[in-house]
Amino acid sequence: MHENFSLKPYNTFGVDVKARYFTEINTIEALQEALRFSNNNRLPLLFLGGGSNILFTRDFDGLVIKLNLKGISIQPLNENEVLVTAKAGENWHELVMFCLDKNLGGLENLSLIPGNVGTSPMQNIGAYGTEIKDIFVNCSVLNLETLETEIFDLEKCRFGYRDSIFKQEGKGKYVILEVTFKLTAQNHNIKTEYGAIKSELEKSGIESPTIRDVSNVVISIRQSKLPDPKETGNAGSFFKNPTIPLTQFEALQQKFENIPGYPNGDAVKVPAGWLIEQCGWKGKQIGNVASHPLQALVIVNATGEATGKEIYDLSTEIINSVKEKFGIELEREVNIV
Ligand code: EPU
Repeated sequence: MHENFSLKPYNTFGVDVKARYFTEINTIEALQEALRFSNNNRLPLLFLGGGSNILFTRDFDGLVIKLNLKGISIQPLNENEVLVTAKAGENWHELVMFCLDKNLGGLENLSLIPGNVGTSPMQNIGAYGTEIKDIFVNCSVLNLETLETEIFDLEKCRFGYRDSIFKQEGKGKYVILEVTFKLTAQNHNIKTEYGAIKSELEKSGIESPTIRDVSNVVISIRQSKLPDPKETGNAGSFFKNPTIPLTQFEALQQKFENIPGYPNGDAVKVPAGWLIEQCGWKGKQIGNVASHPLQALVIVNATGEATGKEIYDLSTEIINSVKEKFGIELEREVNIV
């Protein structure tokens, strides 16, 4: 157990805040012991995975538990399908690579997403036309009140766009211990429809792509516009893409004829990156913080010295200006502590 411990290396924004207590756990027993410690001392709890979707705006006056549970197992279901179970502390991208090495399909579009397996269900991580709900079977969680293990299946997780029960009424009540996915061993479902995947494959002269080809293309697209948190602190998309009523979208089209939108029934999803760019934020730096020059939706710790408050304040300014210009209220996607 560490005291007054800097969390700078444990959050991808690289914000330097302190935890009153900090411990890393490798086993369920160690987790239970840490929970007893927090109970006995009435300490607020915070669980950390890869620290890739969190913004600390202040010191944490409680116990931070970093989950390092490791292990991946594979169980064949039939000729074409397998179940892959990974413990919470496995790095997400390493899991994707592990599966590709075994020619298991389903995770390739989610290559290079920062973070750990255990936090992937919380926000139903997604990219390039796939969300984890598409391959999710269940996750095992520890109920913090009863200290019993429970299984949450697809329905119980109530996945939505960057959303799940773990961000809603289940918030703070469970720790995710492991996640099981159903992947293909052959006859892979290759998804190339989203964004630049198809054109990138064509550029490389690939006509019938393998899951490895899709992964490689996703990696190169991500590397071309998303900052590497090892070099520049960030937490991926800072805001969600807002969904607005079709009528509001049509009214906006009268004023802004190039406004992009992805219709879904009588609602339209509008790329927040476009709205933010139109307000003049793209690439703009204020103090230590900036909107990324290649993807306005990502806020970066440009100098490495930013405080959480500075990052938060810039996000508030962005929200205000988008609201003023478009009448749309952006919602933060990153967890604020
Ligand atoms: N756009 C701009 N300016 C920008 C950025 C984007 O105009 O600076 C517009 C363009 O019209 C572009 C559209 O936004 O065509 C979509 O951009 P992009 O394909 O980069 O995707 P996104 O909607 O901005 C989402 C996810 C990303 C994910 C990508 C690819 C959210 C909040 N973000 O971003 O997820 O990688 O799609 O699937 O849904 C994350 O959640 O941390 C994340 C990086």
